[in-house]
Amino acid sequence: MAEMNRQILLAARPQGFPKDSDFKLVQTPVPQPGPGQYVARTLWVSVDPYQRGRMNDAKSYAPPVPLNGVMEGGTVSRVVASNNPKFKVGDIVEGRLGWQDYGVTDGKGTRVIDPGLAPISTALSVLGMPGLTAYFGLLDIAFPKAGETVVISGAAGAVGSLVGQIAKIVGCRAIGIAGEDDKCDWVVKELGFDACFNYKTTQNYVEKLRELCPKGVDVYFDNVGGPITDAVFNVMNPRSRMSVCGQISQYNNEKPEMGPRTLFHTVSKQMRIEGFLVFQFADRYKEGLTKMAEWLRAGKLKYRESVVNGLENTPRAFMGMLKGENTGKQLVKVAD
Ligand SMILES: NC(=O)c1ccc[n+]([C@@H]2O[C@H](COP(=O)([O-])OP(=O)(O)OC[C@H]3O[C@@H](n4cnc5c(N)ncnc54)[C@H](OP(=O)(O)O)[C@@H]3O)[C@@H](O)[C@H]2O)c1
Repeated sequence: MAEMNRQILLAARPQGFPKDSDFKLVQTPVPQPGPGQYVARTLWVSVDPYQRGRMNDAKSYAPPVPLNGVMEGGTVSRVVASNNPKFKVGDIVEGRLGWQDYGVTDGKGTRVIDPGLAPISTALSVLGMPGLTAYFGLLDIAFPKAGETVVISGAAGAVGSLVGQIAKIVGCRAIGIAGEDDKCDWVVKELGFDACFNYKTTQNYVEKLRELCPKGVDVYFDNVGGPITDAVFNVMNPRSRMSVCGQISQYNNEKPEMGPRTLFHTVSKQMRIEGFLVFQFADRYKEGLTKMAEWLRAGKLKYRESVVNGLENTPRAFMGMLKGENTGKQLVKVAD
């Protein structure tokens, strides 16, 4: 076991977009397991949009990271010392041990993963939280039916890239919206979306959506909010559904953005808009993971991971992901 544990702390609460000085790298002794606990060596760290919310001192569905606390995050790790009979030394575990080399836990909310099933990093992507978010957020919130048109914003990201593929699996048309031509090419040519447009180079989103969705939109899976979502309201069909997964375009705003008033569409089109948190499906994770693994094995699902090396580069990977530098899931490789 190494002598010291490198940890990345929240040094300051960001004003607007985060910056390097909002984070601090420190070294502390490697923890020892207490009764019922285990210590695990981090191999992979996940950087996710929700972590931006945890940096604010604001009431939300989860408490903020305290100042000078270890940044919260999903991890894949190897157990190196254990006083918990459910976790043996050498087990590969997925948990939320944060941005550090070693974490200590009583094991609650962590799971042993089978390295034979797929590369272990997938426990943080297609066979982990983003995969479950795509699966339940599309199928159990928006109920897509074969032949319907599904529009996905954030289409080339961890969640969005899977949502479009699940939409295709259930027989829908999948139309993506992403921030780069290369991302659009990837979701269409490799993942099988029917079309995708670059929101950074498209002038008129409503016109573009009308062109790509001649029969209107039955399901909108919203990862981003803001002007993209405002535009989608105009093309939604009667009895259509919006699954609101995230609003990343708003996460770094210092003041709430004022938008056009769009809710009358919900009346005239008898639409349903429903937000969700993946955790509400916790008692069905096994079902979701089994199905995603089955589709993966059958070659019906593809995934990509963007990897940054080194724990010390985690803040950079996180800020890069917020800017759209990732295609698929953004991960940090911490150790072999
Ligand atoms: N409800 C839940 O339980 C749950 C669970 C997981 C994730 N989420 C949410 O799902 C969304 C996607 O998460 P993810 O982990 O899959 O992240 P991701 O899509 O892999 O990464 C974030 C992406 O957001 C896009 N983006 C950044 N700023 C944007 C803007 N102003 N307008 C439009 N797009 C922007 C960037 O792609 P471009 O290059 O395309 O701009 C970037 O790659 C987030 O809103 C997240 O909060 C919700």
